[in-house]
Amino acid sequence: MAVPQADDLTAQQLIPGYASLARLSVALLAASARAGLEGAAVLVAGCGTGAELVEARAQRPDWRITALDPSAEMLAAARQRLGGEGIDWRQARVEDLEGSGCFAGALSVLVLQSLPDDGTKLAFLTALARSLEPGGQLVLVDLMAPERSPLEAQVQQAWLGFQRASGLEALASSADGELTALTHGLHPIGVARLTALVNAAGFSDPARVFQALGYEGFLLQRAS
Ligand SMILES: C[S@@+](CC[C@H](N)C(=O)[O-])C[C@H]1O[C@@H](n2cnc3c(N)ncnc32)[C@H](O)[C@@H]1O
Repeated sequence: MAVPQADDLTAQQLIPGYASLARLSVALLAASARAGLEGAAVLVAGCGTGAELVEARAQRPDWRITALDPSAEMLAAARQRLGGEGIDWRQARVEDLEGSGCFAGALSVLVLQSLPDDGTKLAFLTALARSLEPGGQLVLVDLMAPERSPLEAQVQQAWLGFQRASGLEALASSADGELTALTHGLHPIGVARLTALVNAAGFSDPARVFQALGYEGFLLQRAS
């Protein structure tokens, strides 16, 4: 079994469900018709320090994996963790990928949330759809903005409580300023907006497959 790294342990304190996120995401994609095939080509978009790659290696050593991230630092950390062999490493944004229909499946975990909704999210999703074979699936996990407003404050408070219970006293010690800090630099959207964006990008409606407070996982299929 893979041992979590320091980055992963911090993420587990910050993000409810993070400990299972990569395992769940890989298992979902591996159960899809196309990526389920032996030797399928799979894109890990925004691989960061490699949590999904570790799981993909463990669950599907037969996958032909392309690991992509624009950050040299993140890629270097992932390469060190995984070893260079057997993975096609690319320092690039998804939007910069050439070719279309190359992948049977893709994973995008906690990436869309950092992109502004000014055409940047749509460009990212369109590039992901283009990279997939028709019928190929994307597992998309992201921080979402709650649309059920009466629950919003409770979800935010619960998120602080989760972090406090995980040992992050400094973050969770006071009220309003902390809530802003939790989403600083992020651009979460609601499900209605996500649906509009993924449809415009060439995907089916998103099917929600899991949720932990504001973090939600969706399965999307590229339209044929
Ligand atoms: C919060 S990290 C998540 C890393 C990993 N997926 C995980 O869950 O541990 C987001 C990653 O997305 C990468 N990223 C940002 N914009 C991207 C883009 N347009 N295409 C691909 N990756 C991108 C960042 O460099 C960063 O490594």
